[in-house]
This record gives sequence, C-alpha cells and structure tokens, in this order.
Amino acid sequence: MELSGRRIWVVGASSGIGAALARELADRGARVAVSARRVSALQDVAAGRMAVVPVDITDAEAVRQAADRVVEELGGLDIVVLSAGYWKQLKDFDAESFQRHLDVNLSGMAHCLDAVIPRLRAAGAGVIVGIASVAGYRGLPGAEAYGATKAAQINLLEALRVRLRPDGIHVVTVCPGFVDTEMTDSNTFPMPFIISAPRAAQEIANGIERRATRVAFPWQMSWLARLAKLVPDNLWTRLLSRS
Ligand SMILES: NC(=O)c1ccc[n+]([C@@H]2O[C@H](COP(=O)([O-])OP(=O)(O)OC[C@H]3O[C@@H](n4cnc5c(N)ncnc54)[C@H](OP(=O)(O)O)[C@@H]3O)[C@@H](O)[C@H]2O)c1
Repeated sequence: MELSGRRIWVVGASSGIGAALARELADRGARVAVSARRVSALQDVAAGRMAVVPVDITDAEAVRQAADRVVEELGGLDIVVLSAGYWKQLKDFDAESFQRHLDVNLSGMAHCLDAVIPRLRAAGAGVIVGIASVAGYRGLPGAEAYGATKAAQINLLEALRVRLRPDGIHVVTVCPGFVDTEMTDSNTFPMPFIISAPRAAQEIANGIERRATRVAFPWQMSWLARLAKLVPDNLWTRLLSRS
C-alpha cells in the first residue's frame, strides 16, 4: 500500500512512537493529522506540515468532534493509528491505577474506534492500526494493569479484523518490545533489545505499507514473547516469582 497521499490520523502523537510515526508518515508523503492532549508538543511534531487536533481520548464526545475536525482538515480519512497509551508500574495491586489504564488504553481506544469505523465503512476502505504491546502476551508482575489492557487490545483488534474485513477495512496489530520514549524513561528494570522511537516508526510504517496483520519488533523481543506464550502456567509462575 502506497502511503504517499494517504490521509492519516495519528492519535497519541505528541511524543514517543506516535510522534516519530507521524514524522515518518509525513516523510513518506502522507497527509497527517496529529492528536493528543499537549498542544505545544503536537505543534512541535507537526512543524507546520501536519494538522493539529488536540483531544483527550477519555472523553468520547471530544473524540467524535476531533474526528470531525480531522476529516475536515484532511478532506477525508484513509488510515488511523491509535498510539495513545498509559503505563505505570504497580508496586502492589491498586484499583485506582488499574482504572486509569482502562480509561486511556481501553476506553480511549474504543472511543477512537467508535468515531472512525462508521467513516471508514462509508468509504468502503481503510486501515486501523492499533499499538498494543508484547506485554499483552503473558502476565507480568508489576504490569498487571498495563498488560491486561494490552492483552485486551490484541483481542479487540483481532476480533475487529474479522468483523471489518467485509467492509474493506484492514486492522493492523502492532506489538512493540521496549522503545525509548517518555513512557519508558522512568523504568528502573532492565529493558532488553530496546530500540529508538524513529526505528519503531519505520517498522510500523513498513508494516502498514505491506498490509501486515501483526507487526512485532524488535525481532528478538517478538520471538521471546512468542516463546513465553508456550511456557506452561505453573512453570511461568515459578520462573517469574524467582526474579
Ligand atoms: N515505549 C515502549 O516501550 C512501548 C512498548 C510497547 C507498546 N508501547 C505502546 O506504544 C504506545 C505509545 O507509547 P510511547 O512509548 O510512545 O509513550 P509516550 O511517549 O508516553 O506517548 C504516549 C502518547 O499517548 C498520549 N496520551 C496519553 N494519554 C492520553 C489521553 N488521555 N488522550 C490523548 N492522548 C493521550 C500522550 O500525549 P499527551 O500526554 O499529550 O496526551 C502521548 O502522545 C502506547 O500505546 C504504549 O502502550 C510502548
């Protein structure tokens, strides 16, 4: 799929993977709109060559209005990238933090999907790119909330891929390993095979171009995560409770 000339909305584009991807897509000739809450950070990313549409994705009505504005600014919509996300390491299980993960990572994604699916359906074509994580593959202590929302995103995107296929809409599930962004800045644990946000953006843009179903990177982390899925539950519990 040629990205040049495509009208692309990147949600969660004020920093990190979303910001790098917005730049990468614009460099490949796409017409890009960027959204998140921080207006000045969005303007820096846009650098005068993208439409800036601030929104808090936890507010369903605000997301609907933002989608209207994006369509107006770009003259339509071909591709949506849902990169907004929240991560906090849990020292112990904490329902308040769990709720925040649900609000941003799950309800926020649902609000965006709700706003864009009818438009893509009406156009009879489109691509939805959801940024999940390899953290959604297995339960990891400290990431109970984040991992649960990422597992749910993987499941949600898989189900939507089937449902939306007859409408000509393709769904891409992106599962990054560690990427050097604001989100990982304060992590104190080891982050093997960590890559830069621009490198992650290239992987994702390449995945969209080849209409991939799942884009997982870097390959070392992707394979480790796949292997982890094969570990029996009891062994997984023993292995992780030792660390
Ligand atoms: N970094 C990694 O190692 C890694 C690995 C796997 C998956 N991921 C996933 O990749 C995605 C991007 O993360 P990142 O690493 O690029 O982190 P990041 O730099 O912290 O970016 C997160 C983005 O989400 C936006 N956001 C957060 N809450 C929002 C809200 N309520 N409404 C609208 N936008 C909101 C932030 O913008 P504002 O604060 O301006 O709203 C920011 O643009 C996330 O879904 C994350 O889970 C990251």
